[in-house]
Amino acid sequence: MMNRRDFLRRSAVASGAVVFPKAVFGETQSRKSQFTMWQLPLHQNNSQGNSYVFRTKQGKIIVMDGGVAPEAGYLRGFLGSLGNEVEAWFLSHPHSDHIGALNEILKNPDGIRIKSIFHSEFSAEFYNKVEEGSRALTVEFYENLKKTPARVIDVKEPGHTIEIDRVRFKILSVKNEEFTNNAYNNSSMVIRVSDTARSAVFLGDAGIEEGEKILASAYRKDLDCDYLQMAHHGQNGVNRKFYETVKFKACLWSTPRWLWDNNPGTGYNTGIWKTVETRQWVKELGIDKHYVTADGLYCI
Ligand SMILES: [Fe+2]
Repeated sequence: MMNRRDFLRRSAVASGAVVFPKAVFGETQSRKSQFTMWQLPLHQNNSQGNSYVFRTKQGKIIVMDGGVAPEAGYLRGFLGSLGNEVEAWFLSHPHSDHIGALNEILKNPDGIRIKSIFHSEFSAEFYNKVEEGSRALTVEFYENLKKTPARVIDVKEPGHTIEIDRVRFKILSVKNEEFTNNAYNNSSMVIRVSDTARSAVFLGDAGIEEGEKILASAYRKDLDCDYLQMAHHGQNGVNRKFYETVKFKACLWSTPRWLWDNNPGTGYNTGIWKTVETRQWVKELGIDKHYVTADGLYCI
């Protein structure tokens, strides 16, 4: 059986760049944690795939989102090196940069066994009304979910908690079909991952409205965390007040270089994106730990 160090070395070789940042808390507390977390790098520079993999100390694998369809091959390799069995797969919302890779894996599992898939299913009334461009993939994905042997759990209310080897996955927000502006993003499933040593909150692509709704909800207290995945790839997501209200120590960014720099090819901060502005908000909060997908694979 491969030990943890061998596995990490093999992952590094398989994936190219790998970054082992200093733990936010320092070594001792990091060692006490019941899980390892990887932020997977981008393989489609023109896209912004959102993809995280967790491994519990006992070896169970959990995936969050998984990136765009062309990243399915990389994800297959990554999961293969971890044993090809996924205990739970969490999906934030059915946009292509979040469900694309899993949709490919569902069509052709090729050895990957998934025990459970958690999502918050949109009603037909909702997806027929909003974002016409996203409808075809949503319908195809929901059809593929019907055919998978995995147990599919449609999470209808926040508060649902799953514990895997002493690692808790708590859902803080589900679909919000009352928001028809920025509709898919504002229906991101928001998830807190924690054990007694550390915590991370994944905001998916939550927009201003969803952010305000969670802040006003009973789950506000669950938002404070060590690692916060910046909403909507770090720009045009939740508002400044959200980041000022929630206490966190480090930022997870599923953000390609052009987006990080707001550079469409015409120079730094010359594009339409608000990433540089978000970076400034965080800087003013005194937070300087950043894990950016543009920099490669992170093991946290
Ligand atoms: Fe996204």
